[in-house]
Amino acid sequence: MVFNDIVIIVKKEISKVKNLKDLNILRVKYLGKKGYITKKFMLIKNFSKKERINKSFIYNKQKEEIKNIIIKRKKEIEIEQYNNNKFLNQSIDVSLPGKYIPPGTEHPITSIIYEIEKFFQNIGFKIITGPEIEDVYHNFDALNISKYHPTRTEQDTFWLDKNVLLRTQTSNVQIRIMKHNKPPIKILTSGKVYRHDYDSSHTPMFHQVEGLFIDKNVTFIDLKSILILFLNFFFGKKYKIRFRPSYFPFTEPSLEIDIFNNKKKWIEILGAGIVSSYVLKNIGINHNKYCGFAFGLGIERLAMLRYNIDDIRLFYENDIRFLKQFRFNKFL
Ligand code: PHE
Repeated sequence: MVFNDIVIIVKKEISKVKNLKDLNILRVKYLGKKGYITKKFMLIKNFSKKERINKSFIYNKQKEEIKNIIIKRKKEIEIEQYNNNKFLNQSIDVSLPGKYIPPGTEHPITSIIYEIEKFFQNIGFKIITGPEIEDVYHNFDALNISKYHPTRTEQDTFWLDKNVLLRTQTSNVQIRIMKHNKPPIKILTSGKVYRHDYDSSHTPMFHQVEGLFIDKNVTFIDLKSILILFLNFFFGKKYKIRFRPSYFPFTEPSLEIDIFNNKKKWIEILGAGIVSSYVLKNIGINHNKYCGFAFGLGIERLAMLRYNIDDIRLFYENDIRFLKQFRFNKFL
């Protein structure tokens, strides 16, 4: 018999062994005191010295291999038995009702973003997204924000390194879209923006929605009409609105809209204006042929006015009692 034959036989036999008792019988058969290997060793004395050395080398190797095969199978059987027994002692009453897991609700900020997107989609705006991690060019330079503007300082902007920051406004998307598209451009984008600020009306992260419309003959009247239409849709003429001249480096002329809240205070909710010819020129759009407007809305401000919330931080504390109040936003 050659060296491997016995190992092959053991392997074959062991594959049919299904429990530890039979495995032990097999072990005794091959490795026991009166087993196959012991018997082989006993016969060795009849051979010459050279052959004895040779044979004992082979038998020892066989013994080792058989031992390993048995150990491996033992582990397999133990795992099989564990898996089979796991559920044996548990009785399952399949008629019991399941546990009720109440459905969550859409976050009010998310709902409002969807609502605004739908409104603008209906009047032809395309919804797009942009990056929150941005470079200086798209967040500041291309928007004509001067090198020395205070918003660039570390007190206002979260810098990731010399050239990379968390965007401070969604206006970065204006630049990205104008760079790669020819007018007419009619887009709406929304998302998180970041500024160093924290009090009852500011959080370091908040949401903006930004619109951009570039075409031939777009006027300031178009901008005003669309914004009035939108605010009437959103608030249902509940609040007094005020247009106020303003300044942004990337729009000229610029305006801001305030809303007169229940506490008789004017609250700023958006900035807008005609996209500056300087920005268009820089990005490679012919400003003699095309013009347009842009606007940026603060979502939290809109939500606070609509739901009479006077501390912006409530949106981000994840207090279930607060969030539950917006259940109606979901399909319940
Ligand atoms: N990006 C401006 C802000 O964050 C808002 C704005 C957007 C103003 C578009 C004009 C045009 O305050």
